[in-house]
Amino acid sequence: MRVLKNLLENNRKWAEKVKKLDPGFFLSLSKKQNPEYLWIGCSDSRVPANEIVNMPPGTMFVHRNIANIVNEDDLNCRSVIQYAVEVLKVKHIIICGHYGCGGIQAVIDGSGYGAIDVWLQNVNELYHKHKTAMGALQEKDKINLLCELNVTGQVANICRMTIVQSAWDKGQKLAVHGWIYNLEDGLLKDLNVCVANKEEMSKMQGIEGRR
Ligand code: CO
Repeated sequence: MRVLKNLLENNRKWAEKVKKLDPGFFLSLSKKQNPEYLWIGCSDSRVPANEIVNMPPGTMFVHRNIANIVNEDDLNCRSVIQYAVEVLKVKHIIICGHYGCGGIQAVIDGSGYGAIDVWLQNVNELYHKHKTAMGALQEKDKINLLCELNVTGQVANICRMTIVQSAWDKGQKLAVHGWIYNLEDGLLKDLNVCVANKEEMSKMQGIEGRR
C-alpha cells in the first residue's frame, strides 16, 4: 500500500531501456528542455499526451484538465501557456479533446459533481448555445458533437488570450491547433481550425459553430 512496487519497477526498466538506446539521453535532457509543442488535453487516463503521438520526453510541454478547458481566469492554465509561449517559445499549441469525454457528458446529463460543475461552466454555456440544433441527435452523437465544439471553442479562447496576442504582435511563430482523439481506434483527427496569426483569428468569429 505504501510502496507502489510495480510502478517503480516499471520505471527502472524503462530508464534502462532508454539508456540502452541512447546512453546520453537523460544527461543531455537534464540540462535543457526545448519542446516545440504545448499540449492541452483532458485528464482522462485513456488519453496520455506523449504516448498517443509517440513522442519522447523533452518534446512536449503538457497541461491537462477535465475537458481540456482554457480559461483566462485559471491561473494554472494561464501560467503553463505563458511559460510555454514566452520562455520555451513553443511553435504549436495543440488543444486535444476526445470523443466520449466524461466532462462533456456531465454537461449534457446535468449531473452535479460540485466543483466540477463550476469548472465546466464554460462548456455548459457552449452547450446551451447549440442545444436546440442538437435536439434530434442521439445521446452519443450529442456528446461527440459537443466534444468537437468544445475543442474549437477552446482554440478560440486561447487565441483571445493576451499572451498569444502579444506573441503574434511580436512576430513570434505560433500556431494553435484543434484536434480530437477517438478512444475506439486510438486515432487523432485534425478539426482544421488552425489559427497562426491575428488575421486568421479575425476570420474565425463564431468558430464554435463550425465543424
Ligand atoms: Co475527457
